[in-house]
Amino acid sequence: MSQDIYQPNPEFAKNATIKSMEEYHALVKKSNDDYEGFWADYANEKIDWFKPFDTVLDESNAPFVKWFDGGQLNVAHQCIDRHLDTRKNKAAIIFEGDRGDVQTITYLDLYKNVNRFANLLKEDFGVKKGDRVVIYMPMIPEATYAMLACSRIGAIHSIVFGGFSSEALKDRIADAEAKVVITADGAYRKTKPYMLKPVVDAALEGESPVKKVLVVERNHEEVTWVAGRDYSYNELIKSKSTHCKAEPMDSEDPLFLLYTSGSTGKPKGVQHNTAGYILWAQMTMEWVFDVKENDTYWCTADVGWITGHTYIVYGPLAMGATTVMFEGVITHPDAGRPWAMVENHRINQFYTAPTAIRVLHKMGEEEPSKYDLSSLKVLGTVGEPIDPPAWKWYYEEVGNSNCAIVDTYWQTETGGHVVSPLPGATPIKPACATLPLPGIMAEILDPETGEKVGEGESGYMCITRPWPAQIRGVWGDEERYKKSYFGDVQKDGKAVYFTGDGAIYGADGYITITGRTDDVINVSGHRMGTAEVEAAIKKHNNVAEVAVVGKPHELKGEGIFAYIVLKSDEGIADEIAEVKAINTIIKKEIGNIALCDDMIFVSGLPKTRSGKIMRRILRAIAKDEPITQDISTLEDPSIVAKIESMVQCKMC
Ligand code: PRX
Repeated sequence: MSQDIYQPNPEFAKNATIKSMEEYHALVKKSNDDYEGFWADYANEKIDWFKPFDTVLDESNAPFVKWFDGGQLNVAHQCIDRHLDTRKNKAAIIFEGDRGDVQTITYLDLYKNVNRFANLLKEDFGVKKGDRVVIYMPMIPEATYAMLACSRIGAIHSIVFGGFSSEALKDRIADAEAKVVITADGAYRKTKPYMLKPVVDAALEGESPVKKVLVVERNHEEVTWVAGRDYSYNELIKSKSTHCKAEPMDSEDPLFLLYTSGSTGKPKGVQHNTAGYILWAQMTMEWVFDVKENDTYWCTADVGWITGHTYIVYGPLAMGATTVMFEGVITHPDAGRPWAMVENHRINQFYTAPTAIRVLHKMGEEEPSKYDLSSLKVLGTVGEPIDPPAWKWYYEEVGNSNCAIVDTYWQTETGGHVVSPLPGATPIKPACATLPLPGIMAEILDPETGEKVGEGESGYMCITRPWPAQIRGVWGDEERYKKSYFGDVQKDGKAVYFTGDGAIYGADGYITITGRTDDVINVSGHRMGTAEVEAAIKKHNNVAEVAVVGKPHELKGEGIFAYIVLKSDEGIADEIAEVKAINTIIKKEIGNIALCDDMIFVSGLPKTRSGKIMRRILRAIAKDEPITQDISTLEDPSIVAKIESMVQCKMC
């Protein structure tokens, strides 16, 4: 085996859930031989069913599928109630605030808090099964209570990341037709208060389906209260009962929506349903992080993204683990903050994004050595390809060359991990997601033929059979669901799920993800549709045309690079003012996360004679790569040289 392969720690493997590649291959074989039996066994073993399911997988209306039909369960019951006999006094959540304040919430506390919250939503806000509730919250325990309270009563939550602007929030509220928003006055970042409620106020201006807003008071800064619409959580919760019935939910009742970017149009409301999602969230927690009864696990994501849903809240709580929740910024007060937290809370599994690893590496290369990190057993990464230098630092300096790194590949749509090492079994390779998890039929296919590609070859990362945590639909748009995920690749004449990512096979079937094949940019592990950013920039009244592409960025992975054609012929009177004005619009329309790293004002864009913008050329110019395409057929071939010289001039 090549030197680049790291074997699992044998001591760790002894007690791991999956202990060897033999066990891994046996599970893969089991799922290949009897796919439905494989899943039925796990569903029976892991879920506390209110009513057993009748069928395992119903593909009769594919790509709309049903898992565990006829069964009934409740996700809040699965995550809380069923643990009360054995884990009542165990910490469910350890919360660390930005300013270092710590709160431990036991499973019994969680039960009471979630039930009170659920009663509040039902009694004071009239929330019923199937209603959509938007959650726009900072990283505080009440965000978790809100999610589980919705699950308990059968309401469908849609969390909007707190960094999104009022316009982005407004669009998501409108698309989901939410009747309630749960928010907070704000929270703390780098010890200073910041605000969320004013963003909600702006999002609700004009027509809105939202009738009630619940405000958790966290930083106690002054906010505007609209009489009859806005209510204080801290006041209303006082009188609520700590008992609330867990609504029996059908396996395929929707659990939540989470909006994510695609290559075209507005963000899509990815829908996840009850049974399949919670089963896979729990199983992957057990397999991939190998969390044991007395372990403390920390995922640094935000609940506004799928990682926060599955691996801060639902996965850890479904398995009865202790999950750490952090309000602050990991580089504050310095880049030793996460390592101080690992030492203080004796954290055993640490899960973060490559962008965070790069920043922590750059800002505090020596920081890990100042802390006792000996509790760590498993390190995880997610969200984007990780570069080998960052991987090595993580492995050697944070993990003391002793911990497995699980490079977990998945997406909002997959609900949970799909390709990942198993820490006690899989030999790992820097920056390689390794192998499909048992039960997940992930294959790299040739998009033309639908054939599996060979070793050393690249193709499209596909999943050829439905899996329980699969996206169930795009909210309110059946056609978009079919077209976005099942329109590109066919295997044996059947449409298969295409992730949108390219990948390459190495030896032994190891999978390395090479990145998106579509017009989606991955900025700091966050998906950004170029179409969304372009639509925002076009709102500036002096912008005639715009094309946005991704460009490699040292810390963010990819940065946003915009080519802009202005309307005024005179050229740019004041470039700094134009950039500022455009950035203000982007902030208003999407949020700071979509700000452009580079804006180049050009006199035209490279287009085919039929008017299609040639993004491949623009991507090559932004990356300073040679243009391999024939440009002679462009509408105006001379534009390419002009753009190149403008970019070179700007960058020099
Ligand atoms: O391009 C892949 C990348 O992140 C995309 C999914 O983004 P999102 O739905 O926001 O979910 C992020 C957290 C799961 C994928 O299509 N991606 C995710 N994990 C990896 C990755 N790229 C490379 N390696 C990974 N481990």
